[in-house]
Amino acid sequence: MSDEDTADIQLESRLREQEYFRPPPEFVGQANATDRDIYDEVGEFPEGFDRYAELLDWDERWDQTFDGSNPPFFEWFVGGKLNAAHNCVDRHLDERKNQTAILWEGSDGEQVNLTYQDLYRRVNETAAALRAQGVEEDDVVTIHLPMVPALPITMLACARIGAPHSVVFAGFSAQALAERTDSADSDFIVTIDGYYRRGEFLDHIEKTDEALEQTERDPDVLAWLRHDEPQADVSDDYVRMADLLDEHAGARVDPVSRDAEDPLFLMYTSGTTGKPKGCQHRTGGYLSYVTATAKNVLDIEPGDTYWCAADIGWITGHSYIVYGPLALGTTSVMYEDTPDYPHKGRIWEIAEKYDVDIFHTSPTAVRMFMKWGEEYPEKYDFDFRHMTTVGEPIQPEAWLWYYKHIGDEDAVIVDTWWQTETGGHLLTNLPALDDMKPGSAGRACPGIEAALVGDDGKTLPEASGQAGNLIIERPWPSMLQTVYGNDERFIDTYWAEYSDTDSDDWRDWNYKAGDGAVQAQDGYWRVLGRLDDVMNVAGHRLGTMELESAVAEVEKVAEAAVAAREDTEKGEVPDVYAVLREGIEESDTVREEIVRAVEDEIGKFARPANVIFVDDLPKTRSGKIMRRILENISNEEELGNTTTLRDPSVPEQIRDELAEK
Ligand code: WTA
Repeated sequence: MSDEDTADIQLESRLREQEYFRPPPEFVGQANATDRDIYDEVGEFPEGFDRYAELLDWDERWDQTFDGSNPPFFEWFVGGKLNAAHNCVDRHLDERKNQTAILWEGSDGEQVNLTYQDLYRRVNETAAALRAQGVEEDDVVTIHLPMVPALPITMLACARIGAPHSVVFAGFSAQALAERTDSADSDFIVTIDGYYRRGEFLDHIEKTDEALEQTERDPDVLAWLRHDEPQADVSDDYVRMADLLDEHAGARVDPVSRDAEDPLFLMYTSGTTGKPKGCQHRTGGYLSYVTATAKNVLDIEPGDTYWCAADIGWITGHSYIVYGPLALGTTSVMYEDTPDYPHKGRIWEIAEKYDVDIFHTSPTAVRMFMKWGEEYPEKYDFDFRHMTTVGEPIQPEAWLWYYKHIGDEDAVIVDTWWQTETGGHLLTNLPALDDMKPGSAGRACPGIEAALVGDDGKTLPEASGQAGNLIIERPWPSMLQTVYGNDERFIDTYWAEYSDTDSDDWRDWNYKAGDGAVQAQDGYWRVLGRLDDVMNVAGHRLGTMELESAVAEVEKVAEAAVAAREDTEKGEVPDVYAVLREGIEESDTVREEIVRAVEDEIGKFARPANVIFVDDLPKTRSGKIMRRILENISNEEELGNTTTLRDPSVPEQIRDELAEK
């Protein structure tokens, strides 16, 4: 064995035994948040959050920080007025109009640098184009765009004219697009002819064509083009953005002064029951909180090149590619294609090319990079000061690999826990203030009061080391306002379980996260995962019920249940257990039909890992499917208590069937 190998092994074992990792002194020396008083200052409820709002430009200052008089419909920075696009674009022109705001890398290495001045021009022209098309203040604009510059430009143009956007992740199917358009009462869909996936041009506009056949509404379609000429069939009924923009070349649109409480956007997300929910986010509280956390947690400075390798179509991209980083006036990188195209070193090649300082990704991606091997990052010369993970728990092993092979042991790492609903980070360390602990998100953010409730409904003592249901006991500025058009669902889903819903004192209301967590003796939080029927597939949230209703569309299926199987790479993957109708034979064709139904209703990213045909499903006496048992079967675990089953032999039958295959 070479000396180098021996040193490597020694390092590995040292890393493995070490529980805490100190942030490097060079990092601490330059960090944005270096004074522990921030916890006390921001924790001074509610006025402590004023300092977050003060990071923004306001047309009118708020007269009340927080109004809790009508729980759980809390209001923030009441009476204040501002515009999000002004804050993310216009206000930077004086100091940094020639600095790159968005640095975009296309699939084939094409590069677009939008300076703040360019972004200003394009957002204005796009805002003028949207207005000319009839978009008015408060109209919801559905945006179905992939990772191209048109996406943040369109979002900011909507924000400029006070039209809330509802971005539907490009990977969602036509049907999912149609449902979200209807649910948001949206009369506008903004799309593009196509984009690149693994170097191949993907027709994207056909999803809009199909969605229009399914919507109840009759939205106008505005189509961007990926190149100068269309590469897919763009219907003559659609308005070409290029034409509209030509008409409005050089246009200037005054940013609309929005009430702090006016909605900035909707973001649909999966829940336990029914259709996805439109989480509605407010302008003032949301923008204040994401700007402050981008500064304090992600340590973004205007001069940095910051890269969050998520998709803007999810909340991470909204808060920490677009709104937070741009409000701080930094350079935010966007990349169009997949991490392995055209080779497995692409991410590191981009990091080297643009000299990225701050890098943000998901545990799923880290596990994938780890599987590919360190030879890929080793080939490139990049040097991150700060790295983030988000979306799922990160296993200490993957954390250590990330720390060593990507961070070169001299970058800090933050593991950030939050949700579409929370708008911004809630549990994570401020990187210069606390040591890192692999596998643990760390402390609650300043001003955030988290707690755990046991199954008996009692709050667990602080830092007890026991697992419980994670709740947030005090409101915060970037919390969702409501579920679009459905206040009742908002109350039922997030508040009813742990609040005194008869009380009009906000202190009696607790937000239910839906996650299980543990707070260790050192005060650090470790989030274990969802306690409800929501799966986390490669960091994407999927409702089991949504998957099941897609499978139920297949006529040959009598009944189906979906269980989450643990997967070393994706975290979890869906297994479908299907009972076929009388007389239908199991076959690959039926299996294919089931897979296609999921792809059609939700999208390819939700594709089941396995379709397992069974004679019966494990059910309680009242007929409720016990997914937990299927999960145990999928994960080859002990079955646990099966005595409540109507037919306790079903799980064993399923196991036997599986064993025969
Ligand atoms: C999970 C993504 C462990 C959690 C920002 C949560 C995490 C759901 C972490 C929200 C983390 C997110 N550690 N689990 N650091 N971050 N989760 O709405 O189950 O797509 O409820 O928001 O992801 O997913 P969402």
